[in-house]
Amino acid sequence: MYSRIVGTGSYLPEKIMTNHDLEKLVETSDEWIVERTGIKQRHIAPEGVTTCDLAEQAARKAMEAAQVSPSDIDLIVVATTSADRVFPSTACLLQDRLDVRNCPAFDIQAVCTGFVYALATVDKFIKTGAAKCALVVGAETLSRLLDWTDRTTCVLFGDGAGAVIVKASEEPGILSTHLHANGQYKDLLTVNGGISETPDDFRAGRNYIKMKGNEVFKVAVNTLGEIVDETLAANRMEKSDIDWLVPHQANIRIINATAKKLRMPMDRVVTTVDRHGNTSAASIPLAFDVAVRDGRIQRGETILMEAFGGGFTWGSVLLKY
Ligand code: COA
Repeated sequence: MYSRIVGTGSYLPEKIMTNHDLEKLVETSDEWIVERTGIKQRHIAPEGVTTCDLAEQAARKAMEAAQVSPSDIDLIVVATTSADRVFPSTACLLQDRLDVRNCPAFDIQAVCTGFVYALATVDKFIKTGAAKCALVVGAETLSRLLDWTDRTTCVLFGDGAGAVIVKASEEPGILSTHLHANGQYKDLLTVNGGISETPDDFRAGRNYIKMKGNEVFKVAVNTLGEIVDETLAANRMEKSDIDWLVPHQANIRIINATAKKLRMPMDRVVTTVDRHGNTSAASIPLAFDVAVRDGRIQRGETILMEAFGGGFTWGSVLLKY
């Protein structure tokens, strides 16, 4: 028994923030941002629009593409670091919105690796027979966690959501998943506090993303190179067996390094970082949906998804679409 992606969807809030808009907020330039990151613009959710709102739009599109109704869904997993509320989970809020009744629903918090962690978890539910039709979403309003006076972080992130429907199938789907974490790197990419560590700052909204970008960059490139090797070896595959790389969209230079490691031409790599920025857990399902809908990714092709994020966490999913 395999778990197979049978439908995809995504959603971006309408409001676009360009690099030129950011030039008015912090000392930066379009040239610097494009050269160091590949990002030209990002979408920002307007006030009052939440992570669950974005997740709902993406989920409805994935359900329509997969032709499943709310009563078919027997598991909901949302990967997010920017949940609507401390609790209930965004997955529970989404379950209510979609009128799905009485199935397990929970969030996964693995920052930018969240969607890979979520797919790996759902794959195990399906392979053990605990679920047959799962809704898996990556959704973020990470703009709410940004310090708009900190040029080293505020230029990098954006908001959005992507979703997939995963069904039990006898046809090949997810071939393998690989998850890792190393909490020793907790301070290189973090939010400086939260409910329990800094309750006063949390209540006052003074907790923001902090990052030692240079150090994150180096570990990310090395680690993603290793996960490519690990994934190929586990499946006894060659680099040339991969049809598409769908990487986490953090920085075009990190993506280029992984593509080079795979000896993959950039026209077989799905990139959205220029238009979306880093949407954390939403970035892979967003990019995947874009390439499915524009006809690049075809049924039967072999896809490698890989991600790296705060924790550090990292992982990959190899699948036949
Ligand atoms: N605009 C203009 N200058 C900026 C800037 C910005 N937005 N942000 C930083 N700078 C400056 C720095 O202050 C520094 O100036 P200094 O030399 O006078 O001190 C200079 O640019 C170089 O900074 P550095 O951090 O060494 O740049 P970099 O080449 O490493 O690029 C990142 C910075 C953040 C783009 C890069 O490190 C990166 O992408 N890291 C990975 C981040 C990431 O992907 N995180 C998420 C992982 S999921």
